Amino acid sequence: MNNSQPGILKPIPVSARYLLFSIEDQSSIREALGRLATLADGHNVVVGLGHSLLSHLETKIDGMRAFPSFVSCGIEIPATHGAIWCWLRGDDRGDLIHKEREITQALSPAFVIDNIVDAFKYKEGLDLSGYEDGTENPEGDDAVACALVSSNQKGMDGSSFVAVQQWVHDLNKFDDMEPIEQDHTIGRRKSDNEELDDAPASAHVKRTAQEDFDPEAFVIRRSMPWANEAGEGLNFVAFGESFDAFEAQLNRMTGRDDQIVDALFRFTRPITGGYFWCPPVVDGKLDLSVLKLA
Ligand code: HEM
Repeated sequence: MNNSQPGILKPIPVSARYLLFSIEDQSSIREALGRLATLADGHNVVVGLGHSLLSHLETKIDGMRAFPSFVSCGIEIPATHGAIWCWLRGDDRGDLIHKEREITQALSPAFVIDNIVDAFKYKEGLDLSGYEDGTENPEGDDAVACALVSSNQKGMDGSSFVAVQQWVHDLNKFDDMEPIEQDHTIGRRKSDNEELDDAPASAHVKRTAQEDFDPEAFVIRRSMPWANEAGEGLNFVAFGESFDAFEAQLNRMTGRDDQIVDALFRFTRPITGGYFWCPPVVDGKLDLSVLKLA
């Protein structure tokens, strides 16, 4: 039994709404966080706190840093940050809307909502390209070891670090590819999800093969497709006991290691990027003891 936010280790839900808040009124931050702690159970609402907020509260969390923005081999990785990230999880979109209103009110006037991403499970857990996403996620004890911080410090044990990026797909471009080119982009066969040994070095799963890094770079991915009037894509979400594994994968995807760019960039690109620290839970409430709010 661990004291992580339970939604981190659970399979993705049918529906989700991702909320991003920024600081509006510094004088009421502590009270607002106190209200959030009782509303967010970590199961229906998973919460992450951003670098700017932790710095403002003078809370030093080992391993916490700002999302890296960089350009490599012509690929732009944007960093957009955020003070609080909430992942609302459920079966009913109506419930998620009401939960969002409740959270927004509880966080006001200290925080205002900056961005909302509506997401959903596609079939058995596919990306909108039609490929299964999450196949190589560690499970059981391996999932706990790779996603959760193990610490003697109260308020740290069971916490997690999450990297979040909204990716926008160009599905027309993807549809224009021959089936074999699509399979070589991902490195798996769409029809049966088999990994392709003869896929090129640029194939996504060749770039990110978790056991090929030194040290091995395992993360728990809980990404979900999103869509709105502006387009569609994947809201990429990866939990880790640090950001190191995610960063190693991102470096290799963008060719920073060996100038080989992940073929995914032919049809999709990230438009946001943020890092958040997800506190543990105690008795169904967020444990914010390390923030010393009182
Ligand atoms: C739009 C963006 C992305 C799409 C559509 C996508 C899709 C996929 C798909 C279809 C797979 C194969 C099945 C699986 O094991 O899950 C996969 C694997 C994987 N992806 Fe992504 N991915 C995206 C972005 C990223 C990013 C940004 C990272 C990390 C920086 C990442 C890390 C991984 C990892 C670690 C694996 C498993 C590799 C292995 O060990 O075999 N992905 N992804």
